[in-house]
Formats: sequence, C-alpha cells, structure tokens
Amino acid sequence: MAESVPEYSKVDKTIESYSCEKSALIAILHEIENSYGYLPAWALKHVSEKLNVPMIQVYGVASFYDAFHLTPRGKHLIRVCLGTACYLRGSARVLEALESELGIRDGETTPNLEFSLQSVRCLGACALAPVMVVGEHHFDKMTPTKVHSVLKRVHGKNE
Ligand code: FES
Repeated sequence: MAESVPEYSKVDKTIESYSCEKSALIAILHEIENSYGYLPAWALKHVSEKLNVPMIQVYGVASFYDAFHLTPRGKHLIRVCLGTACYLRGSARVLEALESELGIRDGETTPNLEFSLQSVRCLGACALAPVMVVGEHHFDKMTPTKVHSVLKRVHGKNE
C-alpha cells in the first residue's frame, strides 16, 4: 500500500497551531487524519518527537479511536450493514459479492486506492434492509446481483 510522501513542515504547522501542547495530541491527530485520510507512520513519528510523547502512546491513541486509520483509505468508502435486520435479509452475501468483485476483504482497501470496504452494525434504515452506503449514497434492498451495477455507477461518476 502506497505511503504518503512526508510533509514535515505541513505537520509542523499543525503542531505549532496547538502551541506544541501534549494535551492537544488527539486534536493534532484529527487534523492529520483529515489532511491525508489516514495517519501516515512518518507523521506519527514526527508528532511523537515534536510533542516529546513516547511513540507507544501516540500509536496507542491512533489505534484506539475508530475515527483514526493507520493505512491509506480508498476514495470511496463502502459500508455494508451486517446488523440483525440486514443480516437476516442476506447482507453477508452482499458483502461476499463486494469482496469478490473488488478483490479485497472486509476492512481492506483496493491497491488503486479507489475503494475501502467496511462492515458496520446498523445504518439506521432497517426497513430498507439490506442496506449499503457508498460515500453519501444509500443503496437499499441490496442483493449480490446488484453489486456490480452499483460499483459501476459509483465509479462512472468519477470518470
Ligand atoms: S440493521 Fe441494517 S440498517 Fe439497521
């Protein structure tokens, strides 16, 4: 998976905007996550050095919160609901179809950084189960056979 090119001065600006305060660690990591879509290893090391916080502590915070990601993520995040209502209506087979179509497993990102796949528990639309969400777009009453056309539709919007 491609790692971003280190941009130390950009990260320095973020750290300095918080006056190099150790207590701002989470806020600083949020800004880095927003800039890169994940927390690059070089940035975590740099934050650790600049704030004088042990790397194990920085890594501990970065890996604890769901909002942080330690690997690059795809342009499109696909979330498939495996909550009870969706599961009972076949969402596991939708997930399998996505894994097969994209060549990745749940939690992974395609090598071209186009798609990330993530199973979730309840997207709040149980009456429309099985549900999947791609970016901002909801797809209701999903079936494995609809997967190909949904991916084509989402991908086509960016060409
Ligand atoms: S269980 Fe899937 S939307 Fe609620």
